Amino acid sequence: MITTTDLRKVYRSHGREVTALDGVDLHVREGEVYGVVGRSGAGKSSLIRCVNLLERPTSGTVTVDGLDLTALGGRGVRAGRELRRARSRIGMVFQHFNLLSSRTVQDNVELPLEILGLTRAARARRARELLDLVGLFDKAGAYPAQLSGGQKQRVGIARALAGEPKVLLSDEATSALDPQTTRSILTLLRDLNRRLGLTVLLITHEMDVVKTVCDSAALMRGGRVAESGTVAELLATPGSQLARELFPVGGAASTPHDTVVDVTFHGDTAAQPVISQLARTYNVDVSILGAAMDTVGGRQIGRMRIQLPGAYEENVVPVGFLRERGLQVEHVVQAAPEHVAQAAAEQKETVR
Ligand SMILES: Nc1ncnc2c1ncn2[C@@H]1O[C@H](COP(=O)(O)OP(=O)(O)O)[C@@H](O)[C@H]1O
Ligand SMILES: [Mg+2]
Repeated sequence: MITTTDLRKVYRSHGREVTALDGVDLHVREGEVYGVVGRSGAGKSSLIRCVNLLERPTSGTVTVDGLDLTALGGRGVRAGRELRRARSRIGMVFQHFNLLSSRTVQDNVELPLEILGLTRAARARRARELLDLVGLFDKAGAYPAQLSGGQKQRVGIARALAGEPKVLLSDEATSALDPQTTRSILTLLRDLNRRLGLTVLLITHEMDVVKTVCDSAALMRGGRVAESGTVAELLATPGSQLARELFPVGGAASTPHDTVVDVTFHGDTAAQPVISQLARTYNVDVSILGAAMDTVGGRQIGRMRIQLPGAYEENVVPVGFLRERGLQVEHVVQAAPEHVAQAAAEQKETVR
């Protein structure tokens, strides 16, 4: 539904060049919720602005719903007619809502419909349908100042849906909201995704957002996509930073001479009592150092860090047993004590 190919964006200001996007290939399938995470400055906002051509890419192509937007003329507010039409089919939700304070809730939602040239009656009908969809039917006559942050974002979402988009883009839509409101907005986005078959590309710096609503995710670093895939694929990728941050398992071994491995369960393997089978079959004492289990897209997924007595070489058979059972096992090389503090500090310096 959304494909970017070798997308590059270089900003030039005051004689300086900043490469915000450095060859981004992104593929968002129809009907999925796709999360992009990364630290501040990674290029996330640039990516989303290039996807709807608010920002013209320096090079590369952007295809949305089969249409190559980069081939259409004009830029920014001076976009050509074709580009404007294509863009009206891409909804955009902003962190700071961007509502007009002098207009009522309904008039804010009607704004894009005025631009599309709908009659007054058709606009009013559509706006009320949209407000109903986001659970704000009774607030049609209110002004933005009379709404809570969550309600304002619902208006923002209703407005984004006005042009009946197939794609919704969201840049940090929940980062100005408290955790409970964040959850309700995410639930709404998920619900719209399912009910309307809407494809959602969302930018966030909260891993919880990815865990709660995303089917797929990408990690951006320095203007590039460092990792991407479905959440299940990421979990099955050895050494995946996203998997580690989605399902952090901490815990240091009680002795540096033992073996520590991270075990990832997904799908059917999550329900099997493999750890107790391992302990019984090989008569080993398995210590669980840390674990994180969750349900992602209706499937149980999790990670566990376990300690096995003896060096890694002595544990190849038990590790092989776990792999035979379809689990993914990664050997965690333990840091010497003086390195532990540093490793912990590095661990903290994670995706923002
Ligand atoms: N309009 C702009 N002009 C110049 N540099 C910009 C502009 N917008 C973003 N940048 C720079 O591009 C890089 C990526 O920024 P951005 O896409 O906003 O990242 P993110 O949303 O991940 O924080 C940063 O180094 C930022 O300073
Ligand atoms: Mg940003």
